Amino acid sequence: MEKLIIAPSVLAADFANLAQETRMLHDSAAAWIHIDVMDGVFVPNISFGFPVIEAIRKHTTKFFDCHLMIEKPERYIAQFAASGANMITVHAEACPHLHRTIQQIKSEGCMAGVAINPGTPVSVLEDVIGDLDLALIMSVNPGFGGQKFIANTLHKTVQLKSLIDSTGKEIYLEIDGGVNQINAGALIHAGANVLVAGSFVFASADPKETISQLLQLDD
Ligand code: DX5
Ligand code: ZN
Repeated sequence: MEKLIIAPSVLAADFANLAQETRMLHDSAAAWIHIDVMDGVFVPNISFGFPVIEAIRKHTTKFFDCHLMIEKPERYIAQFAASGANMITVHAEACPHLHRTIQQIKSEGCMAGVAINPGTPVSVLEDVIGDLDLALIMSVNPGFGGQKFIANTLHKTVQLKSLIDSTGKEIYLEIDGGVNQINAGALIHAGANVLVAGSFVFASADPKETISQLLQLDD
């Protein structure tokens, strides 16, 4: 599997300057761009949808890691794929027919991920892990950027790493929420290979440099 991937979250960018922010990420060492879609139902916040994804797609060829915090995401998979998504990650808690939704994502030509909330055990992923390209552990309750990292995530990361290893397949292990330079090292050590970073990157004086510094933790 490739080395550590940093996926800065556009949620923390300046929405009035999205073209500029996207080009900054394009020029950075971040391999992926994390795109948080919220519907105000699955999570208590609304972020943005297809027009914004299409708009930023015009400014970068980087991998779009779309994290759907929406109820019944199966209604919109085709539209997310058409908007420029490369990875589509749905929440296990939002999908009664999770296996079918994963197949639907793949049939649209995207990679498929499943996310679990802090209160959801890793065991929920046991029967679908072999079908996934990515499994995501939320390290905050989804809905907002800038929240404090929940420490129990470390223990869940170790569990998920062992579940992934049991498949013998290469599956990304992503951590999302409250990631910073202090907890990133332990997460990488526990088996994470994709780290989302929102406020830590965008609130820093030099976002590109912050991304590079996070990547150096993998050396
Ligand atoms: C939270 C989102 C996260 C968020 C991370 O619901 O899924 O991707 O943007 O932001 P930080 O890194 O600020 O916690
Ligand atoms: Zn996210």
